[in-house]
Amino acid sequence: MPSSARSIAISTVELTKRYGEFTALDRLGLSVPRGRIFGLLGPNGAGKSTTIKILTTLLDASSGSATVAGFDVAADPVEVRRRIGYVPQLLSADGALTATENLVLSARLHGLHGRTRVARVSEALVFAGLEAVANKLVRTFSGGMVRRLEVAQATLHRPEVLFLDEPTLGLDPVARKTVWERLRQLRETEGMTILITTHDMDEADVLCDELAILHQGRLAVLGAPDALKAQVGPDATLADVFVRFSGAVLDHGGSYRDVRESRDTVRRLG
Ligand SMILES: Nc1ncnc2c1ncn2[C@@H]1O[C@H](COP(=O)(O)OP(=O)(O)OP(=O)(O)O)[C@@H](O)[C@H]1O
Ligand SMILES: [Mg+2]
Repeated sequence: MPSSARSIAISTVELTKRYGEFTALDRLGLSVPRGRIFGLLGPNGAGKSTTIKILTTLLDASSGSATVAGFDVAADPVEVRRRIGYVPQLLSADGALTATENLVLSARLHGLHGRTRVARVSEALVFAGLEAVANKLVRTFSGGMVRRLEVAQATLHRPEVLFLDEPTLGLDPVARKTVWERLRQLRETEGMTILITTHDMDEADVLCDELAILHQGRLAVLGAPDALKAQVGPDATLADVFVRFSGAVLDHGGSYRDVRESRDTVRRLG
């Protein structure tokens, strides 16, 4: 593998997804160095989840190519899956199981056995800050606890690249920060590369090293949060950047708002 391939965790070239006549993703080109927290922004329907699904091998591209952790998603999906973790947009933890049971299931899914499995599950409970409630049903957890559990589940096998689709949707500010801390910790201690999608401009600003804004399936702009703000104006916020490049409109308070209602995370667990 050439050294450039080793230092690049995610790369896409002309990546395109069509549904019939509709183009959901249009010739996307991205290159994410290892150890970065990369944010994918864009209004509803911009193509963020589509991009994540192709990169996690859940969806085939119509044309173009992508590599993750040095492997082509179309040619070597099994090698890619071994090296990634994925926290989907909809919740993945099972509310009818305890935290420990959820972790054991994920550990089995990732092929962890015996003593390694026991050790990783207890480490994960500590990482998620859920030791005290390890044997409680997840449906009794707050949204922040559930999301931290899901991050722990998705990283049991120590993936090189972690994908999270709207990891803090519906969380209160305190819960959001505890998720951010866990993600930073994974980057610092494991050197993990993390790609998130978000509608939260604060999250994009404080958590991400680099951002891509998508608009109608196309890459509208790419850069570090500070560089993007500077590009728009001396006092520009990331919301201003988003409005400039995404085609979104300002609401009456002058800030960008997602059109969706913020959904209640715990209620969705049923
Ligand atoms: N299976 C499908 N068939 C047809 N169109 C689809 C399908 N899946 C997604 N799309 C369309 O592709 C576009 C991109 O969807 P995608 O889910 O990637 O958006 P997104 O940026 O994640 O949006 P959100 O912020 O709402 O999660 C949307 O217009 C969506 O309606
Ligand atoms: Mg989405």
